[in-house]
Amino acid sequence: MSHFFAKLQSHDIGFFRELLGESFVLGSREECLPYGSDETEDLSFPPEVVLKPHSTHEVSAILRYCNEAKIPVTPIGARTGLSGGALSVYGGVGLSMERMNRILEVDAHNGQVTTEPGVITQVLQEECAKHGWYYAPDPSSKGSCFIGGNIAENAGGAHAVKYGVTKDFVLNLEVVLPNGEVIWTGANTLKNATGYNITQLMVGSEGTLGVVTKAVLKLLPLPQHQLLMLIPFYNAEHACQAVSEIFKAGIMPSALEFMERDAIDYVLQFLDDVVIEVEEKVQAHLLVEVDGNHLDGLMKDCEKVMEVVSAFDCGEPLFAEDEAQKNQLWKMRRKVAEAVKSHSVYKEEDTVVPRYALPDLLRGIKDIGREYGFRSICYGHAGDGNLHVNILKDNLSDEQWNQMLPLAIHKIFEWTVSLKGTLSGEHGIGYVQRSYMPIAFSSIELEWMKKIKNLFDPHGIMNPGKVL
Ligand code: LAC
Ligand code: ZN
Repeated sequence: MSHFFAKLQSHDIGFFRELLGESFVLGSREECLPYGSDETEDLSFPPEVVLKPHSTHEVSAILRYCNEAKIPVTPIGARTGLSGGALSVYGGVGLSMERMNRILEVDAHNGQVTTEPGVITQVLQEECAKHGWYYAPDPSSKGSCFIGGNIAENAGGAHAVKYGVTKDFVLNLEVVLPNGEVIWTGANTLKNATGYNITQLMVGSEGTLGVVTKAVLKLLPLPQHQLLMLIPFYNAEHACQAVSEIFKAGIMPSALEFMERDAIDYVLQFLDDVVIEVEEKVQAHLLVEVDGNHLDGLMKDCEKVMEVVSAFDCGEPLFAEDEAQKNQLWKMRRKVAEAVKSHSVYKEEDTVVPRYALPDLLRGIKDIGREYGFRSICYGHAGDGNLHVNILKDNLSDEQWNQMLPLAIHKIFEWTVSLKGTLSGEHGIGYVQRSYMPIAFSSIELEWMKKIKNLFDPHGIMNPGKVL
């Protein structure tokens, strides 16, 4: 979709200053630069101005103005995204939600929280936990990402396997539409069979349909105990095969993560304070967590898991003995992406397949790597069939890299879709994956998505250059 966008004029800046106050309008190149990057590769698309609204009313006034003036608006959260969804690829307004960071109400009677979008996910979790409630979605970036960004990208994380991803927790949203109108999408209820489900249309729409200004999220009773074990395997495909057998044996892990050997090695080099002995011949690990309120039952679950995985050529598991060791193992897992990034230029894909196809996915990716001449490090949320694939540049020349990469990614996605999977499980399509959308959807399907986009945003001002 191509639209004509206006360049920002001084009278536009004047309007924004009048509306928000001087200090919440950042106009210099230097101030805008950090808002032009997230965690996606080394991309840089700074907005022409950064606006920091504090209320729904201000967001509404900004969108109404930009819609009339045809100025593109890119909502920006904590910039931890991995698909470039928050990058101002057409310049214009970068709408930073950082000041809308109030948790408005923890409803301890109903198990719900009403929050603004600029709250850090872990802060929200900790606040809910004080009231005995659990907000489960926990992307690896939970210590810095915003709940608004999680909603925009339908973020997942390690506990999605048992509890679901962000969408499964969103009950109701206040959304400012591109023309400035403010709507609530649903109701604060666990069930809702009333009209179209605009709530779930907004979740994962990557800021292309409107701006979420309040969210009502479902909470769960906080589980009392977690048991965590790290299981080494001598063959990575076998580790992947073990995954679906754990569920088939009647166990519902609260996390089931896969890490290839190189992922562990890199992260152990990257972190000084995590020390784990890994045997020479180990090729992969599964990190398995079970949670609940009855320790004896959880112990039995762990025994069952060990019984299942022992058929798959694994070594002695490491049981986390205390909270400190659990935190170490989780830290190790969460830091994989950063560790790999510090090692080599790389491209991260977020493939997802039905769980039982995970070994096929991994094997196919390694085959494609041999065919195209790249090394990959794979890790991720195995219980969800969600494999993060880090394609490493290593010693490839820029020319080799640039030539090989789009072809190889194309091939990986075709393989993923042939396994009845899709392009992204939790990172989103954003800016960097959108050219691959025709692998996942027919032209008719894509046309319907475009019609939905046009209905909400006829001038195309909302986060242009993303998803479609
Ligand atoms: C993770 C992020 C990269 O799983 O999704 O660590
Ligand atoms: Zn992940």
